[in-house]
Amino acid sequence: TRVALLFGGRSSEHEISCSTASGVLSAIDRDKYEVVPIGITKTGAYTLQPDDAAVFAMNPEAMPTVADNGTRVLWPDSTATRELAYLDASGHRHSLGDIDIVFPILHGPWGEDGTVQGMLELVGLPYVGNGVLASSLGMDKHFTKTVLEGAGVAVAPWITVSRREWADDPELWTRRAHGLGLPVFVKPARAGSSVGVTKVDGFADLDAALQVALAEDSRALVESAVVGREVECAVLSGRGGGATRVSVAGEIIMHGREFYDFEAKYIDPDAAELVCPASLAPGELAEMQRIAARAFEAIGGSGLARVDFFFTGTEFVVNELNTMPGFTPISMYPKCWQASGMSYPELIDELIQLGLE
Ligand code: DAL
Ligand code: MG
Repeated sequence: TRVALLFGGRSSEHEISCSTASGVLSAIDRDKYEVVPIGITKTGAYTLQPDDAAVFAMNPEAMPTVADNGTRVLWPDSTATRELAYLDASGHRHSLGDIDIVFPILHGPWGEDGTVQGMLELVGLPYVGNGVLASSLGMDKHFTKTVLEGAGVAVAPWITVSRREWADDPELWTRRAHGLGLPVFVKPARAGSSVGVTKVDGFADLDAALQVALAEDSRALVESAVVGREVECAVLSGRGGGATRVSVAGEIIMHGREFYDFEAKYIDPDAAELVCPASLAPGELAEMQRIAARAFEAIGGSGLARVDFFFTGTEFVVNELNTMPGFTPISMYPKCWQASGMSYPELIDELIQLGLE
């Protein structure tokens, strides 16, 4: 089976996607799969990259990126063919042969948000993971919460404000934010890895936080902070709509930092600990798994997702769904499956097979 691995991309999570790709390149079953690594540069060029996990491995001091080597990958020009080709740096065309499936291991806008999925639908290439709608919904925190609320899933109270609304009447929006209590979290509607997220302890700091969030997207959320444990679980299902399988829970234990921000996620190895399985009573785990499946189905999910919660001790509040979660061997998504009996290479195999269904 020939797999085109798509990674990098135009979003602020470019580097995280590269490190995820490195994990997949190092663990994918080479007897079963032939990999065509396609790196998307930060400016959106599709380039043919070396099949070398080391080049894209996470290094907090020099984050991995896709370098523009001058090659250009060409997608099929109709649904009648699955042949990929590329132009070398001198502009000469070469075939890359037929592709069986694309694995878009991209995080953030222009990758995790349904845009790439839509392109693959148009050219008729099968792909791993969520379709257009679930990807778009999952990427946008305002619309995720709206849909979850409608499905009876608990979410933290919030308001959404656009760049223009904030500029026109900050006093009105500050008054509305008062109703959420303190602290609040300010987040871009569409971003990931906590990029652009600020914890606000006083409303005097709201403007600065909104400027940071609104630099990432034209809309931002102001959200009540939920006091509780940060727990997550992993979901798998068939692309064609098979049963939703939910892993055991993992927990993020913070050491010292204010919240699980970008630094704690990727830079400072001592800031956070991922514990899996999390210590939960059997009834609590079952409740969390039930809500995870409900949330995933509410957004029309297929393939995979990581569902992130706050557990207050009595209630599971969904923070968000990630339709292409971080996916290195030490990321929470694979860890949750490892603790549920599926190894990292087996999980990669499972995702590709589900995408081929
Ligand atoms: N957005 C990052 C990659 C995650 O959810 O794991
Ligand atoms: Mg996220």
